[in-house]
Amino acid sequence: MNDLLDHLRTAVGDAHVLTDGADVAAYVVDWTGVHAGQALAVVRPGSTSEVAAVVTACRAAGASVVPQGGNTGLVGGGVPDATGTQVVLSLGRMRTVREVDPVAGTITVDAGVVLADVQDAAAQAGRLFPMSLGSEGSCTIGGNLATNAGGTAVLRYGMTRELVLGLEVVLPDGRIWDGLRGLRKDNTGYDLTQLFVGSEGTLGIITGAVLRLFPATPRHATAWVAVADVAAAVALLGLAQQHAGAHLSTFEIANRQALELVLAHLPGASDPLAEPSDWYVLVELAGAQTDDGLDDALEAILTAAVEADLAADAAIAGSPAQRTALWALREGISEAQKVEGATLKHDVTLPINRLADWVAEIGPKMAATLEGVRPVTYGHVGDGNLHYNLSAPVGGDDDLRTAAADLSTAIYDSVAAGNGSISAEHGLGRTKAAAGASYKSAVEVDLMRAVKRALDPDGLMNPGVLLPLVGQS
Ligand code: FAD
Ligand code: MLT
Ligand code: ZN
Repeated sequence: MNDLLDHLRTAVGDAHVLTDGADVAAYVVDWTGVHAGQALAVVRPGSTSEVAAVVTACRAAGASVVPQGGNTGLVGGGVPDATGTQVVLSLGRMRTVREVDPVAGTITVDAGVVLADVQDAAAQAGRLFPMSLGSEGSCTIGGNLATNAGGTAVLRYGMTRELVLGLEVVLPDGRIWDGLRGLRKDNTGYDLTQLFVGSEGTLGIITGAVLRLFPATPRHATAWVAVADVAAAVALLGLAQQHAGAHLSTFEIANRQALELVLAHLPGASDPLAEPSDWYVLVELAGAQTDDGLDDALEAILTAAVEADLAADAAIAGSPAQRTALWALREGISEAQKVEGATLKHDVTLPINRLADWVAEIGPKMAATLEGVRPVTYGHVGDGNLHYNLSAPVGGDDDLRTAAADLSTAIYDSVAAGNGSISAEHGLGRTKAAAGASYKSAVEVDLMRAVKRALDPDGLMNPGVLLPLVGQS
């Protein structure tokens, strides 16, 4: 292994091969603090050719590689296992915005560019890069592509895979595939770009991407709406689609428990409504500078909602600061729940018309499994995705850990029975790889393994992530 470290130092320079405990600490534990491992080394290449040299050296030594971007992933896919033999390949030094073409509607970036920096570069060119996540100040485009990230703009603009036109990838054998063509139309064979999107670092290392840009939407109309239950929220979604059409850009839900955690743990947060409600919806319309009708459309949605007995009250943002404050209530939930204590995350999706029944049915099952468990239910209800994240009973962090397998199995079984998915947007990573395979047909798992074998026959790219190791499924 000393030979490998020498080769890595030759490839990227001594300063960019980290082996000391304190230097590697931030790379071997994830944002949740739950997923932690050990690394032989953390390597920080500064260019695509250096990434290729690192992969080639690891392959020659038989060392497996764990690609890492912003390390904000929530399923343990970007941190090494416990063996101390894996090399973490961080894209953190590859942060160049290579080109912005507002007319073609494209931006070409290094994989290590932080999502917020892509948004800013697009805005400076008078365009919108719509992807938006609570982690956008830290997560990278490479990580977003590797996880096929979702977020709060999926309703209008789609998942990451709908925002990408081409990729540059270092393959497991060290070759570089340059697919940065950025064409809207290209029917010349299998779609290799899409093969790598959502592959969670198991097929190669994304080093660059051409992304789609959209017309800027500087005007917003935003409201925080009190609704009685998930059924009312879904009915409100129908009204919002009817009145706002293509301007509807956000439709997020949160239960009272989620808001209470934010109010308790987020400095400066305050409840925008006088009376508590069991559920809330954050609804936003967005449009161009010339779109004058957004406020009227929002008003029409809320009036119709009150008349149909779907909404009890609403706070409308009257200024950019008020809009930011409403968004903070939504985006602060993950952090607030982490501060509260032990959390068991479930990132599920079902057909939208089944969500309300599912939430009503799963709550009693959770309570029967662990008395006092607190469902913190929120997420992207507009696209059918709920984060059914359980907080421990007050003072009962260990109880949650003990009951975790039973709670998660009950959730996943009911989601699978309802034709849903156990991972809507976070991926499978290390923690859900086995569960992911267990809810797929044998044919589907075989096809996935065949793809993996074809690209990575030695199994050195993020083994145990996305697909369980053979013999562990
Ligand atoms: P990492 O965590 O570093 O890695 C994630 C996975 O991608 C790993 O398997 C890793 O090996 C692989 N990978 C990373 N970079 C590359 C690369 N260049 N080439 C190949 N593989 C690579 N996710 C959502 O989808 N929607 C949300 O709304 C959302 N909200 C979040 C809010 C908070 C507060 C936090 C902490 C996380 C949230 N996430 C959300 C999860 C996370 O931010 C996303 O999964 C994000 O896409 C991960 O990007 P990253 O750069 O941090 O990747
Ligand atoms: C979010 O939408 O805030 C995250 O994806 C949810 C989470 O942290 O579980
Ligand atoms: Zn989410």
